[in-house]
Amino acid sequence: MAKFTPRVFSGIQPSGGLTLGNYLGAMVKFVAMQEAGTHETVFCMVDLHAITVPQKPDVLRHNTRELCAGFLAAGIDPEKSILINQSQVPEHAQLAWVFNCVARMGWMGRMTQWKDKSGKNAEAASLGLFAYPALMAADILLYHATHVPVGDDQKQHLELTRDIAAKFNHDYGVEFFPMTEPVIEGPATRIMSLRDGTKKMSKSDPVDASRINLTDDADTIAKKFKKAKTDPDPLPGSATGLEDRPDARNLVNIYAALSDRSVDDVLAEKEGALFGYFKQDLADLAVAKLAPISSEMSRLMADPAEIDRILARGAERAREITVPILEQTYDIVGMVR
Ligand code: TRP
Repeated sequence: MAKFTPRVFSGIQPSGGLTLGNYLGAMVKFVAMQEAGTHETVFCMVDLHAITVPQKPDVLRHNTRELCAGFLAAGIDPEKSILINQSQVPEHAQLAWVFNCVARMGWMGRMTQWKDKSGKNAEAASLGLFAYPALMAADILLYHATHVPVGDDQKQHLELTRDIAAKFNHDYGVEFFPMTEPVIEGPATRIMSLRDGTKKMSKSDPVDASRINLTDDADTIAKKFKKAKTDPDPLPGSATGLEDRPDARNLVNIYAALSDRSVDDVLAEKEGALFGYFKQDLADLAVAKLAPISSEMSRLMADPAEIDRILARGAERAREITVPILEQTYDIVGMVR
């Protein structure tokens, strides 16, 4: 296999409502990868993926800018990383078409996200929702990305990305696309619902108290943590003591992630504490960490033109990579240019 430049790509849908889960589970990790400097880093607001289900145009535009503000407030530096919205780099959609012709109907039909989202009424789902993973493969392979940090719900899409790359390389007798490695988030960074420690924290949960939104004010954050579900037992002395206590474990995980410490380290200090006290500490910590992010997001959102300039500049930088890769792809498949 040819040598590929170490490059990270990841994407988040601008479908509204950034949560603590997006922040701790994705953005903090993205920032660490940016700062490590071992890989080029590309982060993308996948607006073309968002329209696989109905979106209100003005809301989508707002959500894309808000997600961009979230990336910036979390510490993504648009000079160190390439920060883009997908639709502004047209090669994503162009390569996706080629991959629609590489991927097989059977592969797509086996995707669990397709089955879950199309539900019982697959006839009424958009063709885009079915093709969603081919566009995701194009996002990644358009940059010859070597590493993709994602939640474990995206693991199957990453396997499909490798299948598409392998079939393309095989069918055309080339070694053009890399076998991308997933970087799957561990359970420690998986942030669960504050109302049910066995369910992922989600922006689409109808109960707002189940999640912390990055736009929540200090009072709301404190209230939500105080009302979070727990059990009557005190905190154990190490992580093994949390194994059958999903709600308790989630709160300790959040505390550890927010303070950038290990769960064992936190528990060594807090052993024996009751949740009444611990939740107060957690609320204080969360407010201290999140308030600067939420105020930076509001500051950025007050000047959408500046956000648009950052995204336009990101697209320009991205296209230095994507245009040559798309041109080579077109040459390989036999397009006259
Ligand atoms: N499907 C991903 C999700 O819902 C978002 C996504 C789109 C993505 N393209 C990507 C993630 C490329 C990583 C790489 O979370």
